[in-house]
Amino acid sequence: MTDLDQLKTDALTRIENAPDAAALEALRIEFLGKQGSISGLMKTLGKMTPEERQVQGPLLNGLRSETADAIAARKAVLENAELEARLATESLDLTLPAHESPKGSVHPVSQVMDELAEIFADLGFSVATGPEIEDDWHNFTALNMAETHPARAMHDTFYFPDVDSDGRRMLLRTHTSPVQIRSMVKQGAPIRIIAPGRVYRSDSDATHTPMFHQVEGLVIDKDIHLGHLKWTLETFLKAFFERDDIVLRLRPSYFPFTEPSVEVDVGWQDVKGRRVLGGDGDAPGHGWMELLGSGMVNARVIEFAGLDPEEWQGFAFGVGVDRLAMLKYGMDDLRAFFDGDQRWLDHYGFSPFDQPTLSAGVGAKA
Ligand code: PHE
Repeated sequence: MTDLDQLKTDALTRIENAPDAAALEALRIEFLGKQGSISGLMKTLGKMTPEERQVQGPLLNGLRSETADAIAARKAVLENAELEARLATESLDLTLPAHESPKGSVHPVSQVMDELAEIFADLGFSVATGPEIEDDWHNFTALNMAETHPARAMHDTFYFPDVDSDGRRMLLRTHTSPVQIRSMVKQGAPIRIIAPGRVYRSDSDATHTPMFHQVEGLVIDKDIHLGHLKWTLETFLKAFFERDDIVLRLRPSYFPFTEPSVEVDVGWQDVKGRRVLGGDGDAPGHGWMELLGSGMVNARVIEFAGLDPEEWQGFAFGVGVDRLAMLKYGMDDLRAFFDGDQRWLDHYGFSPFDQPTLSAGVGAKA
């Protein structure tokens, strides 16, 4: 009995003082391992008389389980201490500034598209999309440009050699106007959408690139007239340029898919070789930049898209997104938009956190 008590006191003291996990494991083997001292005592139970066993059994079992419990408790304490120590050495100072580079930025075209979506969402427009690889029915025919229509030649179209299953010629869309047709065919009327995206024409100089960006606008409803178009464009451009004094020039024009058609130019001023907004477009050092084609949707287009032009009217417009960006943010060469030059991107790019909102400003630059 005294021996057992002595053994237990010893074991528990040594376990309690085990300095680390390895020492603790050594003690576990010493006491409870196959050749361990307590395991050895357990084996003696087999040779005892039933009476002896009735007395010794509970004592030995108690010793074994108390030892095991003490080891588990010490193990938890050691592990906890180890974690605390690691946390202390691995501490992070969350008040340090974040690493600045490498840093991506939002391209001005993407930023302007987000701004447009924000402005038009406020006017009740949703965003629609269509394919960049189009067929000539959606890109031309349904927009009132028959096979032989001279306007087709003006578009400098990139054609594919292929023809689709309906015998339509495939091409890279030359404008976002085919999305007008796709939206009318798909959702019927009424409609209020903008459709931003890439368009392609075989054309290249300081203000033209073979790929550029447009946003199409389309409103189809009842009793829509030219006044709605004019108000919408003015409201949009004032919100976009964040100023009330922008000078617009509306010119009568011609597009096969609108009747009547209106072209909209915005006046710019030359500041040290850069075009910026404002000023008298007709004065020296000033000019007009063509921004927008628009008009009332031609009744034939509404018919092509499967709607009744007696019942539904509307207006449409197409805006050059890159040109909007150039005028708002002061770039003077469109080609640089697509060079991927890091210095240009650093200079003209936007922080991903600079989300355009009407309340915070659609053009706030961080
Ligand atoms: N699609 C025309 C263009 O690319 C622009 C436009 C769109 C004109 C809608 C009128 C109406 O030049």
